[in-house]
Amino acid sequence: MERKNVLSCIQPTGDIHLGNYLGAVKNWVDLQEKYDCTYGVVDYHAMTMPYKAEDLRKNTWKMVFQLLACGIKPENLFIQSLVPEHAELCWVLGNVCSFGELTRMTQFKDKSEQVKDTDKDAFISSGLFYYPVLQAADILIYHADYVPVGKDQIQHLELSRNIAQRFNHQFGKEYFTHPEPLLTKSAKIMSLANPLKKMSKSLGEKHYVNIFGEEARIRKQVKSAVTDTGDNPEGEMSAGVSNLFGLLIATNRQEAHDSLMEQYNAGSLRYSDLKGEVAEGLVALCSPIKERYDEVYADRKNIKRVIKQSSAEIRKRAAQTLAEVKEIAGIMNPR
Ligand code: TYM
Repeated sequence: MERKNVLSCIQPTGDIHLGNYLGAVKNWVDLQEKYDCTYGVVDYHAMTMPYKAEDLRKNTWKMVFQLLACGIKPENLFIQSLVPEHAELCWVLGNVCSFGELTRMTQFKDKSEQVKDTDKDAFISSGLFYYPVLQAADILIYHADYVPVGKDQIQHLELSRNIAQRFNHQFGKEYFTHPEPLLTKSAKIMSLANPLKKMSKSLGEKHYVNIFGEEARIRKQVKSAVTDTGDNPEGEMSAGVSNLFGLLIATNRQEAHDSLMEQYNAGSLRYSDLKGEVAEGLVALCSPIKERYDEVYADRKNIKRVIKQSSAEIRKRAAQTLAEVKEIAGIMNPR
């Protein structure tokens, strides 16, 4: 039987944080056994928010090294700007995506507000508005059946499916597949400093756990995690405590989880014990990844060459799709 295609991508906007890892990247690693997987570092997407050119190139390579340290196979990994067909397909797909659909994207609303928060006259790029069409191109260009992501990407995936459907309908051909999301049990990890918000780099340093960060910092962040936000009606577990229990499951500490949950139900749980177990779980999770990062980094010259090569190989598949799309849509192919 033919193996299914998996595709997912991450923006090179800094270090991989715990939300990225538990919501997506860990799953990407595991799926490599069972499916044909393609993973991208999407630097074109990272251009949609204010950035410095020299930082972007550096962060793109850093993200490559970090993904390899997490266990992504080099042959499955590409850098988006080395596969320019994504941008060309994006243009084609923009014509089967309505303006109204893009105005409904919550990520655009969130991110444009975030830019305005820093400066009310700040520049909001049309790239930020168009972002989800490029994401649809990333997915559809490899005929992805499954897209492993965190919960925050569900709306973008629905849009990708609508775009595929509309293209197929408009040109009278069942050409694009209809990609389905794959979620993990930790599809939405919350900030430790404000458990009512999703863990994210854009909230600021104290809100995300950098899995490549110092052990002492991880322990300190867990120690100062907010447990009771006063958001919980009588008898209901608060968002902060629930997030910490979720982290115990995500770091394979089921036994500790069950015994602490018993104490919680009996009203005898000390939050310091819960935090202690979570910190142990996170340190055990992050240490080997950090060690592998050092090995990868030491070999970075060679790795850059390998990733340029794998991007060139992956590009052949993207070019094939784009040529077929142009044929179907009535535009010219250079060959
Ligand atoms: P990005 O770079 O923000 O995040 C990468 C992945 O991490 C997941 N994630 C989380 N999961 C659980 N809890 C959290 N707190 C958390 N924060 C982030 C995200 O859901 C994502 O899966 N638009 C995408 C990048 C992208 C893409 C694509 C993804 C571009 N093209 C094609 C899939 C397919 C993004 O900004 O992810």
